[in-house]
Amino acid sequence: MSIAAPILLTPGPLTTSARTRQAMMVDWGSWDDRFNQLTASLCEQLLAIINGAATHHCVPLQGSGTFAVEAAIGTLVPRDGKVLVLINGAYGKRLAKICEVLGRTFSTFETAEDEPTTAADVDRLLRADADITHVALIHCETSTGILNPLPEIAEVIAQHGKRLIIDAMSSFGALPVDAQHIPFDALIAASGKCLEGVPGMGFVFARKESLASAAGNSHSLAMDLYDQHTYMAKTGQWRFTPPTHVVAALHEALLQYNEEGGLPARHKRYVANCQALMEEMGKLGLRSFLPAAIQAPIIATFHAPKDPRYAFKDFYERVKAKGYILYPGKLTQVETFRVGCIGYVQPAEMREAVAAIAEVLREMEVLEI
Ligand SMILES: Cc1ncc(COP(=O)(O)O)c(C=O)c1O
Repeated sequence: MSIAAPILLTPGPLTTSARTRQAMMVDWGSWDDRFNQLTASLCEQLLAIINGAATHHCVPLQGSGTFAVEAAIGTLVPRDGKVLVLINGAYGKRLAKICEVLGRTFSTFETAEDEPTTAADVDRLLRADADITHVALIHCETSTGILNPLPEIAEVIAQHGKRLIIDAMSSFGALPVDAQHIPFDALIAASGKCLEGVPGMGFVFARKESLASAAGNSHSLAMDLYDQHTYMAKTGQWRFTPPTHVVAALHEALLQYNEEGGLPARHKRYVANCQALMEEMGKLGLRSFLPAAIQAPIIATFHAPKDPRYAFKDFYERVKAKGYILYPGKLTQVETFRVGCIGYVQPAEMREAVAAIAEVLREMEVLEI
C-alpha cells in the first residue's frame, strides 16, 4: 500500500490511494464523449452498490455533501410538504437547518448523542402528526459515529405511506443498503467518503417516480436535481461545469472498490480498522464514547484525557508531526476527540497511529486518562 503522508484519520477528506490521485493527472473536456461515458459509467456503478437501477436514478451534483443534501430536500419535498427530522448529532441538526432555510415546514425529534432513534419513536411520531410527508434520517451520525437502525425505521415509514430521505454520507459504500428491501425516496452520499474518492461532488439516489413529479419544487436553479437529471438524461452532460478531476478520481476509486471485493470487503476492512483502533486505544485507557453495539465502523469518538496537561490543539499538532491527522470532537457536553476508520488505510496503520498517540501522551506528560 503506498500512502501519501500524512495519513488522514478523519471522516473526509480522507486518505486516498496513489492510483486514485494519479487519475487526476489528465484534463477532460466537459463536452468530450469520453468524459460523458465516464459519468454514465460512474452513475451505473453507484446504482449497482445499492441495487437501485430498477427503481432509482443516480443524480450527481457538484459541491460538498451538504450541497447534495440541500438539493435533495429542496427538490423532493414539495413546497407544501412537511419533514420530520430525526436528530442525534450535528448533521441531524444541519438537516433541520436546511429545512428552515428552504422554508419547508418541519418538526424535529432529538435523542441524546449516544442514543439511536428507534422505529417505535418514528411510529409514534407519525401517528401523532398526519401532516408529515417526509422523514429525514442520518444513517451514521458522523458527529459521534453512532449508527441509526435504518431498516427498521424505513419499514415503519413505508407502513405509514410516508417518504424517507437518508443522509448516508459517511456510511454509503461501507454499510449495506439494498434499495429493493429498504424503501426510500432519496439516499445521499458523496465522492470523498467510504468510496475513497476525493471530495468535490455528491450524488443522490432518487426514486424515479418521485423525481419525475418534482419539477418546479426546487428553490434554486443550480441545486435542482430534477433539472440536473433531465439535462443529463437528454445530453449525457452535466448541466454546469463538471468537477472533471473528481469524477475521474471517483471512477478510478470505484474500480479499486470492485477489485477489493465491493461493499462486503470495504465493510470488513473498516470493521477491522475500527477493532484495531478500539483495542489499542483501550490498552492506553482511552475510553470510547459509544457502546460497541451502536458504534458504526466509520469514525470513533473518545473521551479526552482528564489530565490538565492535555489540550486538543497541542495533542493534534504533535500527532500530526508523527504523520497522522486526527479530528476534533463535536459534542457540546463532553470533551472528546475523534478518529476515523475509513479511507485507504489498513488495521496496521490504525495500530501505528495509536502508537503515535501513546508517544505523544508520554511527551505531553499526560498521566491521568
Ligand atoms: C452525515 C453527514 N452528512 C453530511 C455531511 C456533509 O458535509 P460536507 O458538506 O462538509 O461534505 C457529512 C460530512 O462529513 C456527514 O458526515
